[in-house]
Amino acid sequence: MSQLLAKGAEASLYLENFYGYPSVRKYRRPKPYRLPQLDAKLRTDRTIREARSLAAARQSGVATPILYQVDLENATIVMEYIAGQRVKEQVPSLKKTQRRRLFNGIGKAVARLHLNEMTHGDLTTSNLLLGPSHLIYFVDFGLAMVTNNIEDFGTDLHLLRRALLSTHHTHWEDCYNAVQEGYSATFGDRSDEVFRKVEAIESRGRYITERIR
Ligand SMILES: Nc1ncnc2c1ncn2[C@@H]1O[C@H](COP(=O)(O)OP(=O)(O)O)[C@@H](O)[C@H]1O
Ligand SMILES: [Mg+2]
Repeated sequence: MSQLLAKGAEASLYLENFYGYPSVRKYRRPKPYRLPQLDAKLRTDRTIREARSLAAARQSGVATPILYQVDLENATIVMEYIAGQRVKEQVPSLKKTQRRRLFNGIGKAVARLHLNEMTHGDLTTSNLLLGPSHLIYFVDFGLAMVTNNIEDFGTDLHLLRRALLSTHHTHWEDCYNAVQEGYSATFGDRSDEVFRKVEAIESRGRYITERIR
Protein backbone atom coordinates (compact mmCIF):
# COMPACT_ATOMS: atom_id res chain seq x y z
CA MET A 1 0.00 0.00 0.00
CA SER A 2 1.27 3.41 -0.91
CA GLN A 3 -0.19 6.81 -0.19
CA LEU A 4 1.03 10.11 -1.60
CA LEU A 5 2.46 12.13 1.29
CA ALA A 6 3.83 15.14 -0.57
CA LYS A 7 4.62 16.25 -4.06
CA GLY A 8 7.23 18.96 -4.47
CA ALA A 9 8.84 20.53 -7.50
CA GLU A 10 11.38 17.76 -7.70
CA ALA A 11 10.22 14.73 -5.79
CA SER A 12 7.15 12.72 -4.90
CA LEU A 13 6.95 11.19 -1.43
CA TYR A 14 4.86 8.15 -0.54
CA LEU A 15 3.89 6.79 2.81
CA GLU A 16 4.55 3.05 2.89
CA ASN A 17 5.46 0.17 5.08
CA PHE A 18 9.00 -1.19 5.21
CA TYR A 19 9.03 -4.63 6.86
CA GLY A 20 6.52 -3.47 9.41
CA TYR A 21 7.93 0.05 9.87
CA PRO A 22 6.07 3.13 8.61
CA SER A 23 8.33 4.52 5.92
CA VAL A 24 8.61 7.24 3.32
CA ARG A 25 9.68 6.60 -0.26
CA LYS A 26 11.12 9.69 -1.89
CA TYR A 27 11.29 9.49 -5.66
CA ARG A 28 12.98 12.22 -7.68
CA ARG A 29 10.97 12.56 -10.86
CA PRO A 30 12.59 13.09 -14.27
CA LYS A 31 12.25 16.62 -15.58
CA PRO A 32 11.20 16.59 -19.23
CA TYR A 33 12.80 19.98 -20.03
CA ARG A 34 16.29 18.90 -18.95
CA LEU A 35 18.71 17.12 -21.22
CA PRO A 36 18.17 13.44 -20.34
CA GLN A 37 21.81 12.82 -19.45
CA LEU A 38 22.05 15.89 -17.26
CA ASP A 39 18.71 15.03 -15.69
CA ALA A 40 19.84 11.52 -14.82
CA LYS A 41 23.07 12.87 -13.33
CA LEU A 42 21.31 15.47 -11.19
CA ARG A 43 18.75 13.04 -9.85
CA THR A 44 21.40 10.44 -9.04
CA ASP A 45 23.71 13.02 -7.50
CA ARG A 46 21.01 14.43 -5.23
CA THR A 47 19.89 10.96 -4.22
CA ILE A 48 23.46 10.06 -3.22
CA ARG A 49 23.92 13.35 -1.40
CA GLU A 50 20.70 12.86 0.50
CA ALA A 51 21.45 9.25 1.45
CA ARG A 52 24.95 10.10 2.71
CA SER A 53 23.95 13.25 4.51
CA LEU A 54 21.05 11.69 6.44
CA ALA A 55 23.56 9.42 8.16
CA ALA A 56 26.33 12.02 8.47
CA ALA A 57 23.96 14.52 10.07
CA ARG A 58 22.79 11.96 12.60
CA GLN A 59 26.40 11.20 13.49
CA SER A 60 26.87 14.86 14.33
CA GLY A 61 23.95 14.67 16.74
CA VAL A 62 21.20 16.06 14.52
CA ALA A 63 17.98 14.06 14.30
CA THR A 64 17.23 12.71 10.80
CA PRO A 65 15.06 9.85 9.51
CA ILE A 66 16.88 6.53 9.42
CA LEU A 67 17.78 5.49 5.89
CA TYR A 68 16.24 2.13 5.00
CA GLN A 69 17.05 1.72 1.31
CA VAL A 70 18.69 3.45 -1.65
CA ASP A 71 17.83 2.72 -5.29
CA LEU A 72 20.08 4.91 -7.42
CA GLU A 73 18.76 3.69 -10.74
CA ASN A 74 15.33 4.96 -9.81
CA ALA A 75 16.58 8.00 -7.86
CA THR A 76 14.72 6.73 -4.83
CA ILE A 77 15.40 6.49 -1.13
CA VAL A 78 13.29 4.81 1.51
CA MET A 79 13.54 6.23 5.02
CA GLU A 80 11.90 6.20 8.42
CA TYR A 81 8.55 7.99 8.62
CA ILE A 82 8.64 10.78 11.19
CA ALA A 83 5.26 11.18 12.82
CA GLY A 84 5.09 14.89 13.45
CA GLN A 85 4.34 18.28 12.06
CA ARG A 86 6.47 20.57 9.99
CA VAL A 87 7.91 23.52 11.86
CA LYS A 88 6.30 25.70 9.18
CA GLU A 89 2.80 24.86 10.41
CA GLN A 90 3.76 25.11 14.07
CA VAL A 91 5.24 28.59 14.11
CA PRO A 92 2.01 30.63 13.99
CA SER A 93 0.48 28.92 17.04
CA LEU A 94 3.57 29.06 19.28
CA LYS A 95 3.94 31.42 22.20
CA LYS A 96 6.96 33.70 22.20
CA THR A 97 8.94 31.61 24.67
CA GLN A 98 8.14 28.39 22.82
CA ARG A 99 9.16 29.96 19.57
CA ARG A 100 12.45 31.12 21.02
CA ARG A 101 13.16 27.70 22.48
CA LEU A 102 12.39 25.94 19.21
CA PHE A 103 14.54 28.21 17.06
CA ASN A 104 17.34 28.17 19.60
CA GLY A 105 17.35 24.39 19.16
CA ILE A 106 17.33 24.76 15.38
CA GLY A 107 20.34 27.10 15.59
CA LYS A 108 22.21 24.59 17.75
CA ALA A 109 21.47 21.78 15.32
CA VAL A 110 22.63 23.83 12.31
CA ALA A 111 25.86 24.60 14.18
CA ARG A 112 26.36 20.89 14.81
CA LEU A 113 26.05 20.21 11.09
CA HIS A 114 28.60 22.94 10.38
CA LEU A 115 31.01 21.71 13.05
CA ASN A 116 30.73 18.32 11.38
CA GLU A 117 31.83 19.99 8.15
CA MET A 118 28.55 19.89 6.29
CA THR A 119 25.84 22.28 5.16
CA HIS A 120 22.18 21.42 4.65
CA GLY A 121 21.72 23.51 1.52
CA ASP A 122 17.97 24.15 1.78
CA LEU A 123 17.15 25.29 5.29
CA THR A 124 13.46 26.16 5.38
CA THR A 125 10.77 25.46 7.96
CA SER A 126 9.25 22.92 5.51
CA ASN A 127 12.38 20.82 5.85
CA LEU A 128 12.22 20.74 9.65
CA LEU A 129 9.83 18.34 11.35
CA LEU A 130 8.88 18.37 14.99
CA GLY A 131 8.95 14.68 15.83
CA PRO A 132 8.28 12.62 18.93
CA SER A 133 9.72 13.97 22.23
CA HIS A 134 10.05 17.43 20.65
CA LEU A 135 13.05 16.33 18.62
CA ILE A 136 13.70 18.56 15.61
CA TYR A 137 14.20 16.36 12.56
CA PHE A 138 16.04 17.67 9.49
CA VAL A 139 14.97 16.34 6.06
CA ASP A 140 15.61 17.13 2.38
CA PHE A 141 19.40 16.86 2.12
CA GLY A 142 19.61 16.75 -1.68
CA LEU A 143 21.64 19.97 -1.80
CA ALA A 144 23.84 19.22 1.22
CA MET A 145 27.59 19.75 0.90
CA VAL A 146 30.72 18.54 2.62
CA THR A 147 32.56 21.75 3.44
CA ASN A 148 34.52 23.56 6.07
CA ASN A 149 34.19 26.94 4.46
CA ILE A 150 32.81 29.81 6.55
CA GLU A 151 31.23 31.32 3.42
CA ASP A 152 29.20 28.12 2.88
CA PHE A 153 28.06 28.20 6.50
CA GLY A 154 27.03 31.82 6.00
CA THR A 155 25.05 30.85 2.88
CA ASP A 156 23.25 28.13 4.82
CA LEU A 157 22.19 30.61 7.53
CA HIS A 158 21.34 33.24 4.97
CA LEU A 159 18.94 30.83 3.25
CA LEU A 160 17.29 30.09 6.57
CA ARG A 161 17.00 33.78 7.37
CA ARG A 162 15.46 34.45 3.99
CA ALA A 163 13.02 31.54 4.38
CA LEU A 164 11.95 32.92 7.78
CA LEU A 165 11.48 36.37 6.32
CA SER A 166 9.24 35.12 3.53
CA THR A 167 7.28 32.43 5.38
CA HIS A 168 6.98 33.83 8.90
CA HIS A 169 6.91 37.49 8.26
CA THR A 170 5.51 38.59 11.63
CA HIS A 171 7.91 36.56 13.77
CA TRP A 172 10.93 36.19 11.58
CA GLU A 173 13.25 38.47 13.56
CA ASP A 174 12.44 36.74 16.81
CA CYS A 175 13.05 33.38 15.18
CA TYR A 176 16.31 34.38 13.55
CA ASN A 177 17.68 35.98 16.72
CA ALA A 178 16.99 32.73 18.55
CA VAL A 179 18.71 30.79 15.76
CA GLN A 180 21.78 33.01 16.16
CA GLU A 181 21.83 32.53 19.94
CA GLY A 182 21.65 28.76 19.62
CA TYR A 183 24.17 28.75 16.81
CA SER A 184 26.80 30.75 18.73
CA ALA A 185 26.31 28.68 21.88
CA THR A 186 27.30 25.58 19.91
CA PHE A 187 29.58 26.86 17.16
CA GLY A 188 31.66 29.01 19.52
CA ASP A 189 34.25 31.67 18.76
CA ARG A 190 33.94 31.73 15.00
CA SER A 191 30.16 32.33 14.99
CA ASP A 192 30.61 36.08 14.51
CA GLU A 193 32.63 35.39 11.41
CA VAL A 194 29.73 33.31 10.05
CA PHE A 195 27.19 36.02 10.94
CA ARG A 196 29.36 38.61 9.18
CA LYS A 197 29.29 36.41 6.09
CA VAL A 198 25.50 36.36 6.25
CA GLU A 199 25.50 40.15 6.33
CA ALA A 200 28.01 40.34 3.50
CA ILE A 201 25.93 37.98 1.36
CA GLU A 202 22.87 40.09 2.02
CA SER A 203 24.49 43.42 1.35
CA ARG A 204 25.97 42.11 -1.86
CA GLY A 205 22.38 41.61 -2.91
CA ARG A 206 23.24 38.94 -5.34
CA TYR A 207 23.22 35.43 -4.11
CA ILE A 208 22.57 32.02 -5.48
CA THR A 209 18.97 31.38 -4.59
CA GLU A 210 18.75 28.12 -6.40
CA ARG A 211 21.30 25.94 -8.03
CA ILE A 212 20.64 24.93 -11.59
CA ARG A 213 17.73 22.53 -11.59
N1 LIG B 1 10.88 11.01 6.66
C1 LIG B 1 9.79 11.77 6.62
N2 LIG B 1 8.78 11.56 7.51
C2 LIG B 1 7.66 12.33 7.47
N3 LIG B 1 7.46 13.32 6.59
C3 LIG B 1 8.41 13.56 5.66
C4 LIG B 1 9.63 12.81 5.64
N4 LIG B 1 10.39 13.26 4.63
C5 LIG B 1 9.69 14.26 4.05
N5 LIG B 1 8.50 14.45 4.67
C6 LIG B 1 7.46 15.43 4.29
O1 LIG B 1 7.43 15.59 2.89
C7 LIG B 1 7.74 16.93 2.52
C8 LIG B 1 8.60 16.95 1.27
O2 LIG B 1 9.80 16.23 1.51
P1 LIG B 1 11.22 16.81 1.10
O3 LIG B 1 12.25 15.78 1.38
O4 LIG B 1 11.39 18.13 1.74
O5 LIG B 1 11.08 16.92 -0.49
P2 LIG B 1 11.05 18.18 -1.48
O6 LIG B 1 12.37 18.10 -2.17
O7 LIG B 1 9.88 17.90 -2.37
O8 LIG B 1 10.89 19.42 -0.68
C9 LIG B 1 8.42 17.54 3.75
O9 LIG B 1 8.22 18.93 3.82
C10 LIG B 1 7.74 16.80 4.88
O10 LIG B 1 6.49 17.42 5.19
MG1 LIG C 1 11.60 20.07 1.13
